[in-house]
Amino acid sequence: MRILGLETTCDETAAAVIDGDGALLSNVVFSQIDIHKKYNGVVPELASRAHAQRVGEVLEEAVACLGRERPSLDYVAFANGPGLPGALLVGKIAAEAAARLYGAKLVGVNHLEGHLAACELSGEKGVDPLPFPLVALVVSGGHTELWLCKGYGDCRVLGRTRDDAAGEAFDKVAKLLGLGYPGGPVVEKTAKLSTSSDIRFPRPAMKGTWEFSFSGLKTSVSYFMRDNPSARPEDICAEFQRAVVDTLAGKLMLAARKYGVKCVAVGGGVAANGPLRERIASEAARAGMTARFVERRFCTDNGAMIALAGLHKIRAGRLTDGPIRINPEMRVSRWGIAK
Ligand code: KG4
Ligand code: ZN
Repeated sequence: MRILGLETTCDETAAAVIDGDGALLSNVVFSQIDIHKKYNGVVPELASRAHAQRVGEVLEEAVACLGRERPSLDYVAFANGPGLPGALLVGKIAAEAAARLYGAKLVGVNHLEGHLAACELSGEKGVDPLPFPLVALVVSGGHTELWLCKGYGDCRVLGRTRDDAAGEAFDKVAKLLGLGYPGGPVVEKTAKLSTSSDIRFPRPAMKGTWEFSFSGLKTSVSYFMRDNPSARPEDICAEFQRAVVDTLAGKLMLAARKYGVKCVAVGGGVAANGPLRERIASEAARAGMTARFVERRFCTDNGAMIALAGLHKIRAGRLTDGPIRINPEMRVSRWGIAK
């Protein structure tokens, strides 16, 4: 079996081919970071345009692994939500064209389900299956969600962010400090230079809920900078990062204990963050749990995670007949996951 995965929900135009065991046959990512960085964030119209310009060559490069003689493709999985409407539309049109060209069946995949599936990817070696039940934290530039999952297609959203996503908070704090875009990697790098400081930002607790909120934390950083113009950027980054890590790791581990699972899984762009991984890994070890992180190369958006989430959907017989619509606001519970 050969599955093509296509990802165009935000600012990466990406395509990958996997086989029926989930082994990676190709993985092509065109990142639009250079296009958006002068605006310190993703500009939707520019994103759709860049997807339209690049998707053809990204697809061509990804399917080159099938050979020229008699290329055969069984399924084309594409992320049909959530994401930017124009960007999703480009992905849908390209996926439909590829499916027609190769006589393949079309599979719509929830982008967030892709970030969870990414925790299983180990490249050419195939996949390392997630041990369900587990609590998952999907944490990226657009999303911060905590799920209780019994399996693929059987997850429940415990909570999500009420305002900014954690990655968005990293991006906004980097912008306040003039560090560039995307914020996560540069804030993490800058924080490493901090030795010690007595800066203290609030930990947004949202007590009694599994929800998150990061916009207040970002505002605290901006007020602190206004009132302390000589504070060192490395100290601000370090304390900001500690506040985010405390919040994410705290809630994830609390939920894992409360629901009695033996595994936590962390996916999405922010899962690349070293202190976040270390903190969750050590807390999980202490609690006798397994912590599963997406490999760093699969943290940010890619086609392999969409292809693998598609494979799980195919295996579970969750394919639908008829045209597949895009849904910019797609929620986990709306794509067939039990409440
Ligand atoms: O998953 P992703 O590519 O896009 C969305 O689906 O939103 O994640 C991108 C986000 C950006 O906000 C970026 O700042 C953040 O992931 N990110 C990080 C790190 N690397 C990327 N955040 C914290 N630490 C990092 N090392
Ligand atoms: Zn993403």
